[in-house]
Amino acid sequence: MERKIINTGDGSATIHIPEWNEQYHSKHGALQEAMHVFIKMGLDFTIAEFDKFELSILEIGFGTGLNALLTAFYGSTVKIDYTGVEAYPVKPEELEVLDYASVLPDFDTAEAVFNKMHQIDWEKSAAITSNFSLKKQEKTFQEIEDQDTFDLIYFDAFGARVQPELWTEDIFLKMYNSLKVNGVLVTYAAKGSVRRAMQAVGFTVERLPGPPGKREMLRAVKK
Ligand SMILES: C[S@@+](CC[C@H](N)C(=O)[O-])C[C@H]1O[C@@H](n2cnc3c(N)ncnc32)[C@H](O)[C@@H]1O
Repeated sequence: MERKIINTGDGSATIHIPEWNEQYHSKHGALQEAMHVFIKMGLDFTIAEFDKFELSILEIGFGTGLNALLTAFYGSTVKIDYTGVEAYPVKPEELEVLDYASVLPDFDTAEAVFNKMHQIDWEKSAAITSNFSLKKQEKTFQEIEDQDTFDLIYFDAFGARVQPELWTEDIFLKMYNSLKVNGVLVTYAAKGSVRRAMQAVGFTVERLPGPPGKREMLRAVKK
């Protein structure tokens, strides 16, 4: 499918898919959305709530690597093992135009970290910084079979409008099984059908205020 780079409301860029009229991030602000949904409500919450000093994170799907970059920066007080699953990797020329290092305060460090994240081999864990390691897995979400492995999941699939098959009980059961007890899943989505699918597989689900431009989001915990 054709992919175009566009600017979002907070000045940060994202990828737009014209055929689906869908974006990789919120049109209101890619950076604002990632910071609110995944860093504040996911990463910061999990560290504080469960007194974590080591975290294993799964991202659905890795896409541009923006969430991974922000996690390496804003999660630097803990040791993080990050797994990003992605079936359709973003191309180097697209990453260059997205220029995500420029959204962080220390451009040179951010650029080196971002480049390294994209240069490492797929399927192998590699140290990106002294306390952040990354494993990129090129496969579909449907192929995930991990058990009791992760403390936190960033569930960042395209919306149910375009990929309803990714917001089902089957997929959330895979997510539930892949989390440890007290594991947390965060997503930008807030639909009732999504919340019910999460609850049906055993999650305890909260509705939280969403990022700018979106009223609510969901956080699910495997109690
Ligand atoms: C909303 S975008 C993710 C944005 C990403 N978190 C970021 O910060 O750039 C959804 C991602 O899921 C990937 N994807 C879509 N369907 C998939 C599938 N069935 N299995 C694996 N990846 C898939 C897309 O290629 C895309 O990168």
